[in-house]
Amino acid sequence: MKRHLLESADLDRDDATLVLDTAAQIDQALAGREVKKLPTLRGRTVVNLFYEDSTRTRISFELAAKRLSADVINFSAKGSSVSKGESLKDTALTLEAMGSDAIVVRHGASGAPHRLAHWVRGSVVNAGDGTHEHPTQALLDAYTIRQRLGRLEGVRVAIVGDVLHSRVARSNVWLLNTLGAEVTMIAPPTLLPVGVGSWPVEVSYDLDSVLPKADVVMMLRVQAERMNASFFPSAREYSRRYGLDGRRMALLDDDAIVMHPGPMNRGMEIAAEVADSVRSTIVEQVGNGVSVRMAVLYLLLGGNEPA
Ligand code: NCD
Repeated sequence: MKRHLLESADLDRDDATLVLDTAAQIDQALAGREVKKLPTLRGRTVVNLFYEDSTRTRISFELAAKRLSADVINFSAKGSSVSKGESLKDTALTLEAMGSDAIVVRHGASGAPHRLAHWVRGSVVNAGDGTHEHPTQALLDAYTIRQRLGRLEGVRVAIVGDVLHSRVARSNVWLLNTLGAEVTMIAPPTLLPVGVGSWPVEVSYDLDSVLPKADVVMMLRVQAERMNASFFPSAREYSRRYGLDGRRMALLDDDAIVMHPGPMNRGMEIAAEVADSVRSTIVEQVGNGVSVRMAVLYLLLGGNEPA
């Protein structure tokens, strides 16, 4: 593994498989234990540096670090000296001067973790940068697919919805491609990025025709907070063409699964009956997120001792 995890492209097949296998080992080691904690990162400090709102990702990284016995500092830009104008660089150098070994960063600007990685000596983990990447989400998604379907090679994954604004989609495309899965993007033309032609994916505008051939359907949140124009006529229209409801779910193969990174807009991209169905892995994804992030922190910081 490299020193940082900045994007899915940092991971070749061996690295990605190592993360997934390590997460599985950690799951096994902790299963049935009363105290769900390993001593591996005792004495190390992990800083969660969050410039954007987050529920799952922040708590998941915090839990992951704590279960490895690291000290954890949670920094959110709101309420810090960032509101006095302090820059990302000065903030990071301040945190490092206090002894942080790894910085987990979420930022509204694509590329912020890359900049950070040039300024600090410790490891940097990208927890979501603008519309660019969210590599640990892709890793936990891959882990969940492998757990449910037993493999990733040749698995047909449909990624549906607001691809344009989705760092989850971008990270998944690269990682799934590295791991041998076949990806189809389904979105309104207005919500596909200009460069999608150069991605290793198929593109379709017709969800109903893709669903019967999919092993995995990954629904994306419509990211209204990143939209400054009208990308579709109305929520109702969007949901009618690109939402996953009970009728559409019935088109899926018996073993196919439905994923969503959260937070969901229930009733918009996904109907409640789908989100709460047995096909849905949404809650498992959250649980797997902790194991996968433990694996990432362990491999970046602990490395050579057995987990
Ligand atoms: C995603 C994110 O923030 O990029 N959420 C997450 O980390 N689970 C997706 C989203 O906000 O839609």
